[in-house]
Amino acid sequence: MPQCLICQNAIEPFMSFGKMPIANGFLRPEDFGGEFVFDLKVGCCERCHMVQLTELVDPAKLFHENYAYFSSISTRMAEHFRCYAQAVRDEYLKTPDPLVVEIGSNDGIMLQHFAKAGGGTRHVGIEPSANVAEAARKKGVNTLCRFFNEETAKGVRTEYGPADAVLGANVVCHLPNIHSVLKGLEILLGPKGLFIFEEPYLGDIIEKTSYDQIYDEHYFYFCLHSLANLFKQYGMEIVNIMPQNTHGGSMRYVVARCGTWPVQPVVGERCAKEVTLGLMEPASFGRFRRNVERSRDQLLSLLEGLRRRGKRITAYGATSKSTTVTNYCGIGPELIEFISDTTPGKQRRFSPGAHIPVVPYERFKEAYPDYALLFAWNHGEEIVARETAFTATGGRFISYVPNVRVQA
Ligand code: SAH
Ligand code: TYD
Repeated sequence: MPQCLICQNAIEPFMSFGKMPIANGFLRPEDFGGEFVFDLKVGCCERCHMVQLTELVDPAKLFHENYAYFSSISTRMAEHFRCYAQAVRDEYLKTPDPLVVEIGSNDGIMLQHFAKAGGGTRHVGIEPSANVAEAARKKGVNTLCRFFNEETAKGVRTEYGPADAVLGANVVCHLPNIHSVLKGLEILLGPKGLFIFEEPYLGDIIEKTSYDQIYDEHYFYFCLHSLANLFKQYGMEIVNIMPQNTHGGSMRYVVARCGTWPVQPVVGERCAKEVTLGLMEPASFGRFRRNVERSRDQLLSLLEGLRRRGKRITAYGATSKSTTVTNYCGIGPELIEFISDTTPGKQRRFSPGAHIPVVPYERFKEAYPDYALLFAWNHGEEIVARETAFTATGGRFISYVPNVRVQA
């Protein structure tokens, strides 16, 4: 039986999505034969309540010199990270020459604002994927191309001293070596240092049936209960939280050494809400599984019905999330003509597992389809506001979060 990554308790998965390829492993035709697959299964530890994958893919297979995800591809996310940096500076950086470290700094989307601010804040980005790390350096962001762990933290502490803030976004759930990460934080943070990070929130995933957040890179699905238990083991506590609407519903957590910062009332209030929502109850995960199965059946029958009526369907955004949707639902090139995406590294390749062609965004505009399946549904507002020419031709977006529907 698989063991909990936090407390080593045995875990029984509550849901299996079947065999899955690497979510960001966009392929050339010559790679089709040897595609790596694993069993995508998710479970909740009954002892410490951490929701997690039960079969793990080696991080070295996922984060490397050809990592496909460039954070700065979305203008809305760029604005989000400008505000995140500003909030950290305004509310938490009180010392005269602060040090800010970011785990998983990608192409520098957030740290660039520290690099530039007021002549430059001392900062270090820790980013193991060499291609995105290089993009960050080109923006003037000081970046170490490494995995964050206890050893990396020791090195940064020795070279730069204690950190006032260690930041992260959509990265802590990517760290299966979570105990080494926590030991690293103990070493790196100054006495009043803060660990501030945001991740897709389990409460939103359950409530919106956004099962496509479940894929190889996301080893964990956090809520306050499971995180509070983890931090307690390292003498740390959650002192503040701020819900975010990014990635379909995320939570920003502010974590400090116990007793060094006041705990805001909103933390206790949210914990109570999690109990009411049943986020630690096995029955909730059973319900989630049934909702996922219903979503899959509805999406498949909608797409098949449209194809039978001769409609052209393409997909919008070759997201990591869409790898779970296409492979779990059985959606391939017979239903989806192509996926358009603005990321050069994904274009002229094929989607993992399902092998749907990924084409440059311009192909979408050249001959609008009848329907566009919104794989990047979390950027829906930005996309729908931009694509008025598509909808003016009668084109319609299809979304499946929080429910399967053709958008008006
Ligand atoms: N923070 C960015 C990027 C999120 S994608 C954003 O929110 O848009 C996750 C990033 O974490 C990737 O760039 C990946 O290479 C990086 N990463 C994965 N494992 C890591 C580790 N152990 N230490 C530091 N970064 C890691
Ligand atoms: P995103 O939804 O952020 O992520 P994930 O990989 O975490 O599921 O990915 C956005 C993808 O969608 C990325 O490949 C770029 C693409 N995209 C477009 O092609 N056009 C757009 O307007 C936007 C916002 C994204």
